[in-house]
Amino acid sequence: MSKTAIITGANKGIGLAIAKNLIEKDYQIILACRDKIKGKMAEDFLGSNATFLELDLSKSSSITQFVNRINSDFSEIDLLYNNAGLIYRDFELTEEGYESMIAVNYFGAFRLALMLLENLHRSSGRIVQVTSLSMYLARTFNISGLHSKESFSPSSRYNFTNLLRSMFALELEHKLKKTSISVSAAHPGVTKSRKSRPYEVKKIKKSFYTYFSTDIQTGIAPIVEAIEDTNVTANQVYAPKIFGVYGTPSTMRHNKMVYNDALRNQLWTYTANELNLDI
Ligand SMILES: NC(=O)c1ccc[n+]([C@@H]2O[C@H](COP(=O)([O-])OP(=O)(O)OC[C@H]3O[C@@H](n4cnc5c(N)ncnc54)[C@H](OP(=O)(O)O)[C@@H]3O)[C@@H](O)[C@H]2O)c1
Repeated sequence: MSKTAIITGANKGIGLAIAKNLIEKDYQIILACRDKIKGKMAEDFLGSNATFLELDLSKSSSITQFVNRINSDFSEIDLLYNNAGLIYRDFELTEEGYESMIAVNYFGAFRLALMLLENLHRSSGRIVQVTSLSMYLARTFNISGLHSKESFSPSSRYNFTNLLRSMFALELEHKLKKTSISVSAAHPGVTKSRKSRPYEVKKIKKSFYTYFSTDIQTGIAPIVEAIEDTNVTANQVYAPKIFGVYGTPSTMRHNKMVYNDALRNQLWTYTANELNLDI
């Protein structure tokens, strides 16, 4: 029987490439995207095994609507791949007053996963959380004043949200130990994801990363491994083997702060209070 997967941010980039890979393996894919036109374009591009459903991770009401729709139309979800994410140059607040990178990259993934647990449990499903090499650049753990402009810098905030994504994956695995749901974390190294779109991209501006980034197949391989490995754990992160950038997938340790139980507890309590949602 074919499996059903939800992929957030599946209209382009790594999300779209993972959707294509899983459809080739007979998965039914729900493309959870915030933009109707881009979502529909990806649906047409991928064919009849793909269904677009609107989801804006920066809005709790959109996540609730999405989950209600999933629960009424799909009784068993086998996989949630928390892929959507972004880096903003400027400080921006969401309608709910959260800084946007925290809201989308971390809070949105947390809320969506927790709201889908019952459904995932029915199919002994898996949650795969994307994270990034940039988590290793996060040097301190400080969750006070996250939604104020003071001391905001786009790159250090992006690094921090990836630290939080890794901490979330490991803590979620601990909390779900007695359930049938498995959890894993993966990062794609540094991948040229911009070409992966449901339309032709003629010109892509070169950036600093262009010179050492890998092709998208190298980038998605660790994520596919995190989806398919039968002995999966979130205690390590799936990543390209050489320097976390090149080669075939392997597993490696997260940033050492991820293994600090007290910090993970502090983060969980803070998030559960902010979002008014817990297991
Ligand atoms: N590429 C890399 O080298 C790399 C390395 C490490 C980690 N990652 C992580 O991997 C993930 C995918 O990266 P990528 O390179 O494929 O990025 P991408 O091409 O920019 O794709 C990001 C996806 O997230 C979606 N998204 C953004 N905000 C959203 C929201 N509020 N609600 C729902 N969807 C939203 C985007 O939708 P729109 O098209 O509507 O903007 C897009 O579909 C990201 O989380 C990124 O942090 C990437």
